[in-house]
Amino acid sequence: MCGIVGYIGKNNAKDVLIEGLKRLEYRGYDSAGIAIVNDQTKKKVSIVKAVGKVAALAEKSQKRALNGSVGIAHTRWATHGKPSVANAHPHSAGRITLVHNGIIENYQELKNILIKKKHIFTSETDSEVVAHLIEQECKKKNFEDAVYATLKQLKGAYALGIINSDEPGKLIAVRNSSPLVLGVGDGEYIFASDPSAIIQHTKDVIYLEDGEVVIATASGYTVKTLTQKIRHRNVQKLEWNDEQAQKEGYAHFMLKEIFEQPHAIADALRGRMEIGEGLARLGGLRSVTDELREIERIIIISCGTSYNAGLVGEYMLEEYAGIPTEVEYASEYRYRKPLIDKHTAVIAISQSGETADTLAAIREAKRKGALTLGIVNAVGSTIARDTDAGVYNHAGPEISVASTKSFTSQLSILVLLTVLLGRQRDMSFTMGKRILTEMKRIPRHIDTIAKQDKKIKKLAQKYKKYDDLFYLGRKYNYPIALEGALKIKEISYVHAEGYAAGEMKHGPIALIDKDLPSIIIAPKDSVYEKTVSGIEEIRARRGKVIVITTKGTKELEKIANDIIEIPKTLEMLMPLLTVVPLQLFAYHFGVARGLDVDQPRNLAKSVTVE
Ligand code: F6R
Repeated sequence: MCGIVGYIGKNNAKDVLIEGLKRLEYRGYDSAGIAIVNDQTKKKVSIVKAVGKVAALAEKSQKRALNGSVGIAHTRWATHGKPSVANAHPHSAGRITLVHNGIIENYQELKNILIKKKHIFTSETDSEVVAHLIEQECKKKNFEDAVYATLKQLKGAYALGIINSDEPGKLIAVRNSSPLVLGVGDGEYIFASDPSAIIQHTKDVIYLEDGEVVIATASGYTVKTLTQKIRHRNVQKLEWNDEQAQKEGYAHFMLKEIFEQPHAIADALRGRMEIGEGLARLGGLRSVTDELREIERIIIISCGTSYNAGLVGEYMLEEYAGIPTEVEYASEYRYRKPLIDKHTAVIAISQSGETADTLAAIREAKRKGALTLGIVNAVGSTIARDTDAGVYNHAGPEISVASTKSFTSQLSILVLLTVLLGRQRDMSFTMGKRILTEMKRIPRHIDTIAKQDKKIKKLAQKYKKYDDLFYLGRKYNYPIALEGALKIKEISYVHAEGYAAGEMKHGPIALIDKDLPSIIIAPKDSVYEKTVSGIEEIRARRGKVIVITTKGTKELEKIANDIIEIPKTLEMLMPLLTVVPLQLFAYHFGVARGLDVDQPRNLAKSVTVE
């Protein structure tokens, strides 16, 4: 996830900005850059950029005379265009230089208009378009009005830090759906994506709200609304230390990332749904639109949590796109003799884009002539580059070793892919519209579930003494049973078994007794009654049962020991909701057992060896 820092005040901006970028490193990035309004010449902005670490940028900056007390800086987590110096921020157009965090949905449309007006672009980014738009508006308006005129044209999410070489003593910052905090120091103001880049200078901050614009000079700042009305905001005192600031007050990155899911899903969907038409638009697949129409079979290859996401995708793609789909562990697939023809699409799902088994499997599929596609979070990663086409998750970096937000974001992309492929085939307009309408509501539903955090924590404390757990689910929620069990294993080192609920009676039910609690995913869906029979069978054998079910399912209160409720949604979208209480349960279970949940033993975030 990109990081922004901006400074205006009495000190050397370069030092403040580089230090700020270092403190934002934990967010993940692939390149960095800095722009300083040069004091000697005024009216001149100097820019330095580097691919890789902030240390490389700091070294490059040493060699340049960057003396000034106004500047902006950025760490880039690539979304549009590969990691490169050209794509790194800050981006300039004439007098305007800016840094951007977020996604501009309509950038291509705006870029086409600007190209016609003779603007020349030097990067592949959506962000550069914003700089050119402001520059264009500056031809007729003052700096502030030009920024406002530009904001009216932008669709998407953005936090911006903007400077203008014609008005060197001013810094404008904007927040809309991407985080931005203003630090209010003594004669100095610092903007940053989170307080960790501010806290060493001041503990007085204003968390900007969506639609707020700050115009800062060395002598003061004004917060305005999108309609240019002044807004009086109270300064708030940060009580955090440095480490807490990085986690934005959450005890662990895992918890922060669970709570970030509504945002990560909204980012995965941004600009990709045409609800009115019942269509999904995935820009990364545009080049293979005709091949997608010809697909007769899909094979999904992935590992761990990404494999579980693939299993949910199998149900979606078969039921709604009507395409036979198989899901395989990449580590198995690579050693099989894959039967592939030119109508087979092989989809690799990977958060890191570097998992060795998935990479080897996708290369093998390519050799055999399959159309290879990627659903990948890390932009520019090897899997993203080696596949014929693909879709990025835009979930931002996941720091905790256990995957949470990347899972729900993968599911969101699979929903979009199902609609895209389905609508190319016989999915009706009404069905496409219905799925997308419900999908749009998912972030809000997750917020509702996250409000039960305290209750789930209590539940985890109640069950923490157990060394074995059973996770059961059916149809769309069978993979969620696997994912719930995987999370517990990773975080708590407790044995957990994920099983298809209908398989219980074929063997595993022999394990059930008072010492083996079961977590059963039983929302009101097409297999609800069957799952409930399974619950009765477990209760009859004195097994304790925690049920995840849809709000208002009163009859379960009589048979379950504990219940967690989720909001209603379409059956195919349920996994996006049912997994959230299981993530929270695993998190609190691990914490209750005194473990390091962010870095569980024996595990690595990116498995780049076989
Ligand atoms: C589980 C987890 C792992 C990964 C797996 C695949 O929480 O993090 O199971 O899902 O190693 O990694 P990616 O998605 O990077 O290919």
